[in-house]
Amino acid sequence: MKIVMLGAPGAGKGTQAKMIADKYSIPHISTGDIFRANIKEGTPLGAKAKEYMDKGLLVPDELVCDLVVDRIQQDDCKNGYILDGFPRTIPQAEALTDALSKISDKVEYAINVEVPDENIVNRMGGRRACVGCGATYHVKYNPPKVEDVCDKCGEKLILRDDDKPETVQKRLDVYHEQTQPLIDYYTKQGVIAEVDGTVDMNEVFDNIVKLLEA
Ligand code: AP5
Repeated sequence: MKIVMLGAPGAGKGTQAKMIADKYSIPHISTGDIFRANIKEGTPLGAKAKEYMDKGLLVPDELVCDLVVDRIQQDDCKNGYILDGFPRTIPQAEALTDALSKISDKVEYAINVEVPDENIVNRMGGRRACVGCGATYHVKYNPPKVEDVCDKCGEKLILRDDDKPETVQKRLDVYHEQTQPLIDYYTKQGVIAEVDGTVDMNEVFDNIVKLLEA
């Protein structure tokens, strides 16, 4: 099962990708998580990525493509994977298609989680992310058991730097300009699956499972 998650920032891609990865026992590969881990570890890649992320801009394609193409060739990806946050531009999608076609393979599902911009701004302000394991919560829709403490690892929960309102609007603009065209790209490949991301997150998940198992 080779799945790509599409959708605006804050549409719920990460939330759903984790649930799908658990259900089907496939790795969840989030480029945002990879960059945040590199920032935390103080690597050169992290320093470079941070320059763009803090401004709500995309990290250049050349820093992303090889990283993902290498990752999906690892052993744990043999039975599939779910890509969350990649591809995000047409050149990234083409790099993925090319890498897969070399091994006679292709993306099987591109799941587009649809949420209007006005819901997004509200969601991002309420998101809290764990500094330890990266788990995400929402103060209203998915609160932790103890305020600002991760249920899974007990570390502190924070508002991500790029979830501040001024950066969220920039990320939405970048999404419409550079990432939304991927919906057409994967529609033409015949693999697009659309879900309404405005309903309860468990209902979104049930709808995705129905599409994957149809
Ligand atoms: P990344 O981490 O990928 O951020 P994003 O795509 O902007 O997506 P988010 O993680 O913000 O949101 P999400 O859709 O996963 O939503 P979530 O499930 O958390 O990337 C960050 C940055 O890294 C980019 O801006 C860019 O700079 C860089 N980058 C990453 N990949 C790159 C690439 N390929 N190329 C170039 N640059 C790249 O949900 C959001 C909130 O809503 C949570 O609080 C959640 O609990 C809540 N929620 C979820 N579902 C629901 C629901 N159904 N109802 C109510 N609340 C819900």
